[in-house]
Amino acid sequence: MAKKLWDKNSTVNPEIERFTVGKDRELDLQLARYDILGSIAHSAMLHSIGMLDSNETQQLHNELRNIYAIVENNEFVIEEGVEDVHSQVELMLTRKLGDTGKKIHCGRSRNDQVLVDLKLFTRHRLSMVCEAVKTLFDTLLEQSNRHKDVLMPGYTHLQVAMPSSFGLWFGAYAESLTDDMLFLQAAYRMCNRNPLGSAAGYGSSFPLNRTMTTELLGFDSMNYNVVYAQMGRGKCERNVAYALAGVAGTLAKMAFDACLFNSQNFGFVKLPAECTTGSSIMPHKKNPDVFELLRARCNRLQALPTDITLIMNNLPCGYFRDLQIIKEVFLPAFDELLECLRMATYIIERIEVNKNILDDKRYDAMFSVEEVNRLAAAGMPFRDAYKKVGLQIEEGTFVAQKDISHTHEGSIGNLCNDRIAALMESIYGSMDFASATTAENKLLGRE
Ligand code: ARG
Repeated sequence: MAKKLWDKNSTVNPEIERFTVGKDRELDLQLARYDILGSIAHSAMLHSIGMLDSNETQQLHNELRNIYAIVENNEFVIEEGVEDVHSQVELMLTRKLGDTGKKIHCGRSRNDQVLVDLKLFTRHRLSMVCEAVKTLFDTLLEQSNRHKDVLMPGYTHLQVAMPSSFGLWFGAYAESLTDDMLFLQAAYRMCNRNPLGSAAGYGSSFPLNRTMTTELLGFDSMNYNVVYAQMGRGKCERNVAYALAGVAGTLAKMAFDACLFNSQNFGFVKLPAECTTGSSIMPHKKNPDVFELLRARCNRLQALPTDITLIMNNLPCGYFRDLQIIKEVFLPAFDELLECLRMATYIIERIEVNKNILDDKRYDAMFSVEEVNRLAAAGMPFRDAYKKVGLQIEEGTFVAQKDISHTHEGSIGNLCNDRIAALMESIYGSMDFASATTAENKLLGRE
């Protein structure tokens, strides 16, 4: 049996076949459930415009739900000689239902099928990323509150600068995640628009009801213009990639801090032995490999928007096979980031902080500004106070007074963690993941 959807009784050179199919047979497995959901919605819509009768529609829905169950049992395969997930599902429908299966492709193209698959896949994975970001955020904020009174040196140029605290350090990364969440929210909203019905990129002469598939699939709205819907391929992935890269950037920076602070020469934080790795030659080593791997993996994730940009750079509008390659870098990025987020949360929960860092005299000079400010508050012009303390330090007569008082918003003594939490809540709490899940369950008959 000819297994190409586009078979016209000529055979394709096996080398050409291998090259053009590429990694689709493996990668498309991740899109299978979404392809089926798209087909359930599409066939319901075809029924509504009289292209399928009730019996055909019911048969298609039953069979599509059976195939969905096969996917859930990890038993779905894209067979040898079948190009992609779209072809495999249609083949399975046709084998079971004959002509009814052959009718489902009315008014659509694999171009809008893969678009809708990617949107549904991405929407789901983004919701998982948002949840994992929120969990890490909560962990960081808890650590910030727990250690709010533990001081540590702050650095500029990696030179001891001014007093900082673990409250500030943990809280800074929590607040950084609020900005990252804002990007994730924007990415989710951009992604949550229906491209189905754009067909090959120019619509269809069938009176498709795109509002209906938009509602059935739980999208916020649609990509109205069919040419733009197709242009969204690659653009959507790149925008999402920027959001993922934002989170990765926060994690990579935090990981580098932790590596540095964990070094014996700093000794600010320590990992429990079970969270470290050893050396094959140096018996004393307890290495922070977790943070190093987080750093490298998150640095690599930050290349994703560029990877995608370079794949689709300068393509004019309309579908091109180039777009297929984006899946190779885009699909695995979610699991990669999710694993990093889970590990970051695990390790931040367990990191131990040194409460006596400031007992070491080498950090005394960081209290110089405190002294200058005390003199200035007592009436001495700032520049004179600066000079006086500077000379004391040069002469070795400066005595650090460590009972500091920082009270303004966002400072050591007033972290505003409650406001940072409220900011995160205003973003994360306003994101609606439930309507997507509800719509999908409804399509599967699982209300
Ligand atoms: N595997 C293809 C992709 O990911 C599916 C769309 C095929 N469309 C086509 N016109 N060849 O882009």
